[in-house]
Amino acid sequence: MSIEPSPPKPEIEALLAENRTFPPSAAFAAQANAKKDLYDEAEKDFEAFWARVARERVDWAEPFTTTLEWDLPFAKWFGGGKLNMSYNCVDRHVERGLGSKVAYHWIGEPGDTRTITYADLHREVQKAANALTELGIRTGDRVAIYMPMIPELPIAMLACARLGAPHTVVFGGFSAEALAGRINDAEAKLVITADGGWRKGKPAELKPAVDTALAETPSVRHVLVVRRLGDRAPACVMAEGRDVWWHDIVERQAPECPPVPVDSEHMLYLLYTSGTTAKPKVIIHTTAGYLVGTSLTHEMIFDVKPDDVYWCAADVGWVTGHSYIVYGPLANATTGVMYEGTPDTPGWDRWWQIVEDFKVTILYCAPTAIRAFMKQGEALPAKHDLSSLRVLGSVGEPINPEAWLWYHENIGRGNAPIVDTWWQTETGMILITPLPGVTATKPGSATFPFPGIAADVVDGDGASVPLGGGGYLVLNRPWPAMLRGIYGDPARYRETYWSRFPGMYFAGDGAKRDAEGYYWLLGRVDDVMNVSGHRISTIEVESALVDHKAVAEAAVVGKNDPLTGQAIFAFAILRAGREPSEQLGRELREHVAQVIGPIARPKFLLFTPDLPKTRSGKIMRRLLRDIAEGRTLGDTTTLADASVVEAIREHSGSAEEE
Ligand code: WT7
Repeated sequence: MSIEPSPPKPEIEALLAENRTFPPSAAFAAQANAKKDLYDEAEKDFEAFWARVARERVDWAEPFTTTLEWDLPFAKWFGGGKLNMSYNCVDRHVERGLGSKVAYHWIGEPGDTRTITYADLHREVQKAANALTELGIRTGDRVAIYMPMIPELPIAMLACARLGAPHTVVFGGFSAEALAGRINDAEAKLVITADGGWRKGKPAELKPAVDTALAETPSVRHVLVVRRLGDRAPACVMAEGRDVWWHDIVERQAPECPPVPVDSEHMLYLLYTSGTTAKPKVIIHTTAGYLVGTSLTHEMIFDVKPDDVYWCAADVGWVTGHSYIVYGPLANATTGVMYEGTPDTPGWDRWWQIVEDFKVTILYCAPTAIRAFMKQGEALPAKHDLSSLRVLGSVGEPINPEAWLWYHENIGRGNAPIVDTWWQTETGMILITPLPGVTATKPGSATFPFPGIAADVVDGDGASVPLGGGGYLVLNRPWPAMLRGIYGDPARYRETYWSRFPGMYFAGDGAKRDAEGYYWLLGRVDDVMNVSGHRISTIEVESALVDHKAVAEAAVVGKNDPLTGQAIFAFAILRAGREPSEQLGRELREHVAQVIGPIARPKFLLFTPDLPKTRSGKIMRRLLRDIAEGRTLGDTTTLADASVVEAIREHSGSAEEE
């Protein structure tokens, strides 16, 4: 794998210059769930710590007999135990008298609302699980879920978990082609979807993409379709014998379906993430350790209390939604908010209206959203009563101090602690974060590893870098919610995460620790871009581009973007006989959106006669990044033909922005 550190972004430089500290208030500390001694307990014996947490937080069908079997890089947590995830997220709360507690306040984009209590979830999950059984799903079968942000999405996930049928949720913004690939990799027997959802004031149909995908997915027997748009989804056609309406089959089921106890290491779900090759990795998460890790971090990091109203504004299609909209919060019997639409509909104060209406106390979102709100000005949040908010979270990319301070002042009204949480699809749970009430925060720093987590910053040889220095972020010890591998490819798992620095998990991020040991994340060090908090690999976009008949060769880099963190900048060499044109530029962008999804659509596209390469033929992305940023070029001594760069540079003024 090539590791070529990106030059620091201007925001990162600003970030490293930031040294204000925000100590916890005495009042917050006095009532905080987390106490400093959590670190001490975990450090004394991390296995004993996780075993204690697992005994206390999980309702086991059969208790575990071993805490950790660590055969690097393969971990087994809580061996011998049996449990059911949906029982732990739903049934046990109802049994303890919390049936009438709200699990989700759901808000549709057009303004319709639904209140789902734990008793409702209990009934609906069991009915859905019975419908899945009727459609032939058995323990171990994989189910693909491709849905908008509606309550049936977590219900579908929990119904799968109830039967021990691993789900693979595919973000609703991904293309039919991406969906087909994910279904085939999982060999899913069933697809759960909807006719569509509301987005930016308009109905957005989803079912046609499923139909396109299913032309290439032999494993699928049935499609279960939730009706969300009804008449507003004219293209929703049901295939006889294959497609079944949710309301036809789920509604008539009995509301009892006993949870299937599964082994601790039973696969809970598969989820894709981008890496350094064109083929995304299918990450495996299992049951018990994931439950332990997500529920403890959720309660401690967000300081969740029984009467809190917690809103994680991510999409369930990403890991943030899996861990912190569905499994962690439900395991903790939390009342959550779930919103279907975009933050700008009908106006840029939609979120603040929701906070006011539902008296949201905890808000968790991405820096890119905060920067988008900043752009709209302070007046919009100021119009709303946000006084209920008491904890704010950030995730997905480094948060620049300016956005941190804006969030602190305009949303948290100066007194809600901010938790900047570092983690990944692979880690399953938050790993580097402040604990509110315990940690003094610094704007832009994710602060310290969570109790029980061993992180380090190492140099290229794997040697720990003393405080004050920067290098690569690694993890030195297994943790309960860690990925268990890459589905179907244990060798790639070892190679990607555990071979760069023997014995250590390599996260792919650069990091620096200051003199006080605070961690400052510096962004990816591999060819993975971070666009609005989502990972997209440069190679994935490159192969989508060369997949177009007009393109001979392509190179893609991330360009710093004030709103989305990074924006996709594509260089394309056309085949002989093809001429650059605005029309072709649009066509290429559309092609990428079709192959991967609209999130991967290049923002900048430059037609170029050639690309800078080393003498061995490797594209020099470092130079392309310089060109994309309009910077003075770095060292070009290893370049095969230096005139290439000059030729591109002459053109680069004409890179079209979309
Ligand atoms: C990558 C993981 C897991 C949450 C959503 C993204 C970056 C994530 C932070 C943060 C700095 C962050 C890293 C990481 N990242 N959170 N608080 N500060 N960087 O999940 O798609 O798996 O991406 O997002 O680069 O490796 P993901």
